[in-house]
Amino acid sequence: MISFEWSVGGTFLFWNGPQPRICISDYEMVKKILLNKYGHFVKNDAHPTILAMIGKGLVLVEGAEWVRHHRVVSPAFAMDKLKMMTKTMVSCAECFIKEWQYQACNSKSIEIEVEFNKQFQELTADVICHTAFGSSYKEGKEVFHAQKQLQANLMATILNVQLPGFKYLPTKGNRCKWMLEKKMKNTLMQIIQSRLASKGNGYGDDLLGVMLDACFTTEQGQKQDEQILSMDEIIHECKTFFFVGHETTSHLLTWTMFLLSVYPEWQERLRQEVMRECGKENPNADKLIELKEMTMVLLETLRLYTPVIFMFRKPITDMNLPRGTPVVIPIPMLHRDKEVWGDDANEFNPLRFQNGVTKAAKIPHAFLGFSVGPRSCIGQNFAMLEAKSAIAMILQRFSFTLSPNYVHAPADQLTLQPKFGLPILVRPLDA
Ligand code: HEM
Repeated sequence: MISFEWSVGGTFLFWNGPQPRICISDYEMVKKILLNKYGHFVKNDAHPTILAMIGKGLVLVEGAEWVRHHRVVSPAFAMDKLKMMTKTMVSCAECFIKEWQYQACNSKSIEIEVEFNKQFQELTADVICHTAFGSSYKEGKEVFHAQKQLQANLMATILNVQLPGFKYLPTKGNRCKWMLEKKMKNTLMQIIQSRLASKGNGYGDDLLGVMLDACFTTEQGQKQDEQILSMDEIIHECKTFFFVGHETTSHLLTWTMFLLSVYPEWQERLRQEVMRECGKENPNADKLIELKEMTMVLLETLRLYTPVIFMFRKPITDMNLPRGTPVVIPIPMLHRDKEVWGDDANEFNPLRFQNGVTKAAKIPHAFLGFSVGPRSCIGQNFAMLEAKSAIAMILQRFSFTLSPNYVHAPADQLTLQPKFGLPILVRPLDA
C-alpha cells in the first residue's frame, strides 16, 4: 500500500464549482502517482466537450483497453517511421517560409510582422493532416476545423456547473456539439473506408496506415483473425492524434520563438549550430537529432511555458487520499520550484539541460513537460522533430525580434497560449 505524506503548502484542497480537487505540488507524491504501474490512479472523467473533441483514444483509456490501444498506436512512433515523417514536416514548414519570404520581398520595409501563434497552429495542423492522413489531407483539415470549433465552445462553457443529465438536453451548445461530432465521425469514416478499400502492399506509411496495418494485418502479412480495435475505436484514436498531435507542438513553437526573440544571444547561438550541422540545406531527421543546443532550448521552453498545464488523476483505491477525488498536478508550479531547479528557476537558462533531462534539476524526474512513467507522451520524439525542423529552417533564413505590439499574457486556453498572439518582426538574413 502506498502512503502519502501531506506537506504543508505543497498540497491543498480546492473547489472547482461543486467538485473538490486536491492540488499536488510535492514531487515525491507526483512521482508516486505518475510512476504507479498498478492502476491505483486513473485519468479523471473527461468533460463531455473534451471527450467529443479528442475522442476516447490513448489519452483517456485505461487498463486492458489502454494496453490494446497502445499496441496498435506505438509502431507509428518508431524512429524509422518518424524519420520518414520528418520529410513531410520539412516540406510543410517550407511552404510557410516561402510565404513569409514572398511577403518580405514585396514589403517596402526591411522587415515584416508575422503573427506566429496563428501561423504555427496552421503549420502543425498541416503537418498532422499530412502525417496522419497522407493523401486524405483535405478531408483531414475538416476534422481540424471541427475540433477548433469544439475547443472554442469548451472555453466558453468550461466553468459552467455540470448538472447531471445536462449533456443529454438539446440545448443550443449540445446540438452544435452533436453536429460537429457527427461531421467528424462521417469524415473519418469515409477516410478509413477508402483507405481499407485501396489496400495495396499495406495501408500506407502515415499514422492511419500504420494503425490499420496493426489492426488488420498479422506480422506475416495475413488478415488478423480478430480485429484489435473496432472501427469506432479507430475513429476515436484518429481524433485523439489529430488534436494532441498539433495543439501542444504549436505552442511549443510559439513560446520558443518568443524566448529566442527575447534572448538574441541564444537565437544567434542556435543559428550557428544549425549552420554548422545543416548549412543552408533543409534539415533531415539525422541532422535534427544532432542539434544538442536546440534540444536544450526546447526543453527549457517546455519547462517555463509548458503547453500542458495540468495533469488530472483519480485514486481508485484508498491511499491517504480521498478515494475518487480528482488530483491535479500543476506542471508550471513544479517547473519553477526553486528547491528543485535552483535559485534561477524563473530564468531562461537552457544550459541546465546540457547533461540531459534527468540531470537538469536536483531530482531526476523533475521535468514533466512530456510527463513521466507509463502514461508519458508517446508523441514526444515526433514533437521534438517537428519543432526542431521548423525552428531550424526559420533560423537559416530570418533574424527576428519581438514586435512592439506584443503583450505578454500567457493564458490557460486548455493549453498555455499567448492571449493576444505572438507578433514578431521578421527580417530575411540575405536582405
Ligand atoms: C510539445 C508537444 C507535446 C507536449 C508538451 C505533450 C505533452 C504531453 C503530456 C504532459 C502528456 C501526459 C498527459 C497526462 O498524463 O495527463 C502527454 C500524453 C500524450 N501525448 Fe503528448 N505532448 C506533445 C506532443 C504530442 C504529439 C505530437 C502527439 C502525437 C502525435 C502526442 C500524443 C500523446 C498521447 C497519445 C498521449 C497519451 C499517452 C498515454 O496516455 O499513453 N503528444 N503528452
